[in-house]
Amino acid sequence: MKAQAGICAEPNLHALYLMFNRTGDAAELVGRLAKLPALWQAVAADFPEAGFSGLVAVGADAWDGLYPAARPPQFRSFMAQSANGQEAPNTPFDLFIQLRADRVDVLHHAGHRVMALLAGVVELAEEVRGFRNLDCRDLTGFVDGTENPQDEHRAEVALLAEGEFAGGSYIHVQRWVHAMSDWEKLAQKEQEDIIGRTKPDNIEYESAAKPLTAHIKRVNLKTPKGESMEILRQSMPWGTMTEQGLYFISCCRTQQHFNAMLASMYKGEGSHFDHLLRFTKAVTGAAFFAPSEGFLMAQGK
Ligand code: HEM
Repeated sequence: MKAQAGICAEPNLHALYLMFNRTGDAAELVGRLAKLPALWQAVAADFPEAGFSGLVAVGADAWDGLYPAARPPQFRSFMAQSANGQEAPNTPFDLFIQLRADRVDVLHHAGHRVMALLAGVVELAEEVRGFRNLDCRDLTGFVDGTENPQDEHRAEVALLAEGEFAGGSYIHVQRWVHAMSDWEKLAQKEQEDIIGRTKPDNIEYESAAKPLTAHIKRVNLKTPKGESMEILRQSMPWGTMTEQGLYFISCCRTQQHFNAMLASMYKGEGSHFDHLLRFTKAVTGAAFFAPSEGFLMAQGK
């Protein structure tokens, strides 16, 4: 089954993120969603040099209302976290649309077409623009995405390989707001200890030198079988002059990896939570499933 291109897309320059809630008839919306794969292809064909990709994903709490016949295996709502006075809230949305391209005008054009297609059956709940910062750095100044799976391994990590939902992906989205002025007061070495990598040249700390509170220490986990837990991160910086941070997006063939990593950030062994949380705050959190193009089109018939 052909996966939607936005799941494994290579990094590019711009993103437009749209969150929707359903206001209209479910069957009507399912019929409109069935037209999105053709819309993605039309925009990509109209602007072949723009590196456009589209992605629609359906919220965990909205799924059964739209596709009651079958549910992706163990598809659960966003697992909120709360510890040490820090929260990762569950703020569900019915639909997530990720539009990505190297041209902002192409994203505007694609967004406009999505809005026209879905008019009358959904309401827009959040609209955020993402952008590449420098050489793929988060706004903390650290390169983000280094340890992401590469090449064909991206699909192995992100996509269900078999069954009715093959070619689909579990998506977790969180909008993070950074406390930039507090972060910028830290010395570079203090920032590096919090991430677990050096800042200018992005070198990973030796294992023994990595604090238990370092971000990459907290999220580098093993499965019970001893294999590395992996996710494909499609995050990008976002922001205005008053609020800025990371639009975090995880794509994976299971929800368990993201859930385990998030729990480990908030509630590591003893008091060792992820010290990135002292300088950034998750203000949204939602779980979705992005079905294959074939599933979307077949359900709309
Ligand atoms: C504002 C929030 C976040 C920021 C600024 C951030 C930033 C970073 C940076 C700079 C790296 C190191 C470079 C790299 O390998 O990409 C990294 C690695 C990573 N992050 Fe995050 N991250 C955030 C949230 C999260 C969340 C919520 C998760 C999952 C629940 C996560 C999972 C990972 C993983 C799996 C790695 C790779 C670890 C490794 O194998 O070395 N991150 N992140």
